Amino acid sequence: MIRISDKQKEWIKKLLSQMTLEEKIGQMNQESVSIVGGFDVPFEELIEMVTDGRISQEAFEKIMSTAAQDYHEADIRAGRVGSLMVQNPRKCNELQKIAVEESRLGIPLLFGLDVIHGFRTVYPIAIAEACAFDMDLFERTARMAAKESRTQGVNWHFAPMLDVARDARWGRVSEGPGEDPYLVSCFARAKVRGLQNDTSSPENYVAACLKHFVAYGACEAGRDYNTVSMAHSMLCNNYLPPFAAAVEEGAATVMAAFHDLNGVPCTVNAGILRTMLKENYGFDGFVVSDANAIRECVTHGIAADEEAAGQTAVKAGLDMDMGTQIYKKHLKQAVADGRLSEKLIDEAVERILTVKMWLGLFEHPYVEERSMDRYEVLPREHLALAREAGCKSAVLLKNEGHLLPLHKKTKISLVGSLADKKEEVAGAWAISYRTNDCVSIKEGFENAGANVRYFPCGGPDTELEEEEIKKAASYGDVIVAVVGETAAMSGEAASKADLTLPGKQRELLEKLLATGKPVAVLLMNGRPLALHWEAEHIPAILECWQMGVEMGNAVADLVFGAVNPQGRLSVSFPQVTGQCPIYYNHPNTGRPGGKSKFTSRYLDVTEQPEFPFGFGLSYTEYQYHNLTVREEGDRLVVCVEVENTGTITGTETVQLYMRDVTASIVRPVKELKGFEKVTLEPGERREIILCLKKEEMGFYNNEGEYRLEDGVFTIYAGGNARDCLKQDLYITF
Ligand code: BGC
Repeated sequence: MIRISDKQKEWIKKLLSQMTLEEKIGQMNQESVSIVGGFDVPFEELIEMVTDGRISQEAFEKIMSTAAQDYHEADIRAGRVGSLMVQNPRKCNELQKIAVEESRLGIPLLFGLDVIHGFRTVYPIAIAEACAFDMDLFERTARMAAKESRTQGVNWHFAPMLDVARDARWGRVSEGPGEDPYLVSCFARAKVRGLQNDTSSPENYVAACLKHFVAYGACEAGRDYNTVSMAHSMLCNNYLPPFAAAVEEGAATVMAAFHDLNGVPCTVNAGILRTMLKENYGFDGFVVSDANAIRECVTHGIAADEEAAGQTAVKAGLDMDMGTQIYKKHLKQAVADGRLSEKLIDEAVERILTVKMWLGLFEHPYVEERSMDRYEVLPREHLALAREAGCKSAVLLKNEGHLLPLHKKTKISLVGSLADKKEEVAGAWAISYRTNDCVSIKEGFENAGANVRYFPCGGPDTELEEEEIKKAASYGDVIVAVVGETAAMSGEAASKADLTLPGKQRELLEKLLATGKPVAVLLMNGRPLALHWEAEHIPAILECWQMGVEMGNAVADLVFGAVNPQGRLSVSFPQVTGQCPIYYNHPNTGRPGGKSKFTSRYLDVTEQPEFPFGFGLSYTEYQYHNLTVREEGDRLVVCVEVENTGTITGTETVQLYMRDVTASIVRPVKELKGFEKVTLEPGERREIILCLKKEEMGFYNNEGEYRLEDGVFTIYAGGNARDCLKQDLYITF
């Protein structure tokens, strides 16, 4: 719940009673269209232009601020704008001043922006950060982003992105915390706390926006914006829980998704927005559309024109229009003609004003001049946090013969154009960082004092340089190859039908291996890749993702052994693209995959992933012993011993899974139900106790009822979703 006092609630009601219909509708209008060279350019296209280098970051900032100024001033003065996307603090103050001092009722503006994985200090993309399995970290990085952005005027983050995603073809897997509803829910809660909970000063918190409501991650064939058809039980058990958790944690806003869910675009889907979110979950914040999504309802073919789309959206419970100005243009007439009840408008506006009140905007509408330059130079503790997050996010996928860590004195040929690209470390959604703050892998190795020489040789979007390959082959005693994807190859509108290493990178690796020298691969990418060949041939593979500004330093910490890898995959990696969607918690078939022909399998590849969910190696090894499970009142107490059998200290993520063996609907073969990180000295063996509340062992059926059904359950504990100890027991509820 958003906490404001009864007195403040009364004050809002009074304010609402003084507003004209036009002013009310103005609050429901977020303008996100900018003007470039006299043309209207949709915001996402603008982002695309920045991403592919058509305009620079600096030019983008300028456009955002001047466009806002030219285009919006009159509207703000007339009370026709509730929110804008601007990220220049002085510009925010100028526009805010018009809203507060020159509009009739002085209602402050909300400034929203995509702050998905950091603001000035960019930390790892969400799919990577989730691999840390570390709620405290999730919360701290969010708090850092909130503080940095608020001093720049941005008081509303379009984050966290909570789309459970099981199909690596979808480019937006990079933006979310993976495939598992439990882990995504943990991430959801922590992010909301980090963004919203430090209300000690208005400079410390922002409004979160949970997105994309809901099941966007299930878009058919992994193609962005595509249709989603889904059983209600699947929706309730897998896609809704993270949103329910984040709403319970007090999230202030929610963004409706672009796609149609069972035939109804989420933008106008009363069943999910009004019934599920607002009535069932008791969500008391407001819902914003995704960019231009109200207009797209006409394209979907479920509204005859913009006016009809706008009305249906309001009726469905969509409180704010991002980017189309359809509310601004059409709602007044619809109310005047009696086609739309003003009561629905009042409800939406009350929610929006409540969030503005909770943010402290009525009392503190401006960014303080003295705070504006606070993050000009990134503070040491923010960089340290980004580096810590990077180190915890990397996942060691293979390490034959303990090739890693390397000794700094070892002669290293560092290969691959991605190793020397500062701008590639930030990931697809970073828009408020500066390239100069980014540390490339090459710089990280140099900073660490490694005996390294760099040879570009080729990359995801470049040709191979044969001469460089020869030089690299003859120089180093070890070759470290940085391969993967550019940042633009994942993220929004970046779906792919082939998940093998793009370009000629496989060929590059083949040539490097042919030298006979040991080759370690560092992966830099925003989605699971199909790495079957690499997993067979390359001795050491470290999945580094896109780690943010401190990437090079964090990667050097890991490669040279200052830090022992501890990340665990937040998503399954397929062997080949055709296995997608592939996820560990799938429902069982009547013919589980096996050796005989008539089973649920492929002829040309097993049904197993290359690397399972929860998987990750370290520079030491762990063994599990003596799983015991006992019932204690309303919970299960699961004990398992974990032993560090290697020679260095390490942090293991002990994972608890369950399976409901017999139920009235088919249940997943495994479901994550808890985890705990434990740091063990070499030779240390420790008992870990994980508790599972019996009330959390149920499921939703297709009528939306939560069922706890007596029967046999299998409880698993282990270091990933595949390799676990297990015990069966009969549970009565
Ligand atoms: C994306 C959202 C984002 C919005 C505003 C849309 O294209 O789907 O995730 O918050 O743009 O930038």
